[in-house]
Amino acid sequence: MSNADKLALLGGTPVRSTPLGGRNRYTGKDALDNLRQVLEGGHMTRVGGTWVQRLEQEFAAFYGAGHCTASTSGTSAIHVAVGALNPEPGDEIIAAPITDLGTIIPILAQNAIPVFADVQRATFNLDPADLERRITPRTRAIIPVHLGGHPCDLAEILAVTERHGLVVIEDCSQAYCATYQGRRVGTIGKVGCFSMQQSKHFTTGQGGLTITDDPDWALRIKRFADKGMPRYSAAGARDYLSFGFNYEMSELHGAVAVAELPYVEGVCSRRTALGERLTSLIADCPGVHPQAVREGNHSTYWFYALRAVPEETGIHASKFAQALSAEGIGCGWQYIGKPIFMYEAVRRKRVYGESDFPFSLQDPAHAVRYEEGECPVCEQALDEMITIGLHEDYTEQDVEDIAAALHKVAAGAAQLAAA
Ligand SMILES: Cc1ncc(COP(=O)(O)O)c(C=O)c1O
Repeated sequence: MSNADKLALLGGTPVRSTPLGGRNRYTGKDALDNLRQVLEGGHMTRVGGTWVQRLEQEFAAFYGAGHCTASTSGTSAIHVAVGALNPEPGDEIIAAPITDLGTIIPILAQNAIPVFADVQRATFNLDPADLERRITPRTRAIIPVHLGGHPCDLAEILAVTERHGLVVIEDCSQAYCATYQGRRVGTIGKVGCFSMQQSKHFTTGQGGLTITDDPDWALRIKRFADKGMPRYSAAGARDYLSFGFNYEMSELHGAVAVAELPYVEGVCSRRTALGERLTSLIADCPGVHPQAVREGNHSTYWFYALRAVPEETGIHASKFAQALSAEGIGCGWQYIGKPIFMYEAVRRKRVYGESDFPFSLQDPAHAVRYEEGECPVCEQALDEMITIGLHEDYTEQDVEDIAAALHKVAAGAAQLAAA
């Protein structure tokens, strides 16, 4: 065997010895010019300013949505939607178990109870059939997460939610411009929520965006983001009409976002092209199953995820990931490691001091369980899951090298199993 065929983990030559792509994001002159205008004008808060309002108008237009509210994070973008839903304490909201805690915090903060449905092994996204099994008379809403930019099975999810009269709040934090059967995710449920945290397709370091077509929801979302004030209504006077937070985005963030927005579509379409190319290059790679994208949908690949299935490769996915990293293709194993409800912040059911509120509102016989085995497919899928960075700056050669390394590790897995 040549040194090139020998796995790098066993002393062979790695497929790649230089870093993949760059991490250059557009941080150009337009943003600096806009920031200078804000700073020289001295008005940095949203009320009375122009930049955040402009961002909201332009983002709504970009999505063909009726309304947009900017806020301070992806977590707040979801929180304002849950605030607009206004659940009764103890109402239930069903969420995806593979996500950031930012999807779940808003549910707990509004004294509602997060319930988790299992995922599909092939997509890592919510399984609509399992979702229906988790619905109770207290269920109010569903938060599907389009994980890594991959659209959930929205038609099936909506069929379930329509049968049960539930609201769909789409978590699109990782899925800018992803399309489901020709429509952008975030425009299909009642509300679409986006994070603008540093790693996202569209970023100002921190920030959030919430879109909806429903004018009544838009008003409630805006009030919830602005301490319950009606500053967006015709009256506009100081008043506190309902509970809310101060989640107002600053003009500084708005000014940067307005400069970045024209680049978002290009970032996303480049990632789609690179991701789809990689999928085609590894179509026949034994034991390697890319996160499935349904025919007619397009992911925008916040990351490139796959399952390395031990029964097929002969080695555990952790070993596969180790071998891939040794080939010069940085990757992670297991993504968040365990279902989000297994993290202490949720599992202990202690949100407010040592009380068990709002869980105390549940009938103990039917109380939600945050235990191992509650979402078995999720546990298995995470254990097989490998995530590889995919950036719009990557070249064709970068993607070919990722594919070559995957093929090499899959072909050489027997060497590792024997080693
Ligand atoms: C799927 C998902 N939902 C919610 C969030 C929360 O967003 P933020 O960190 O901007 O609050 C993130 C952030 O990583 C995320 O990936």
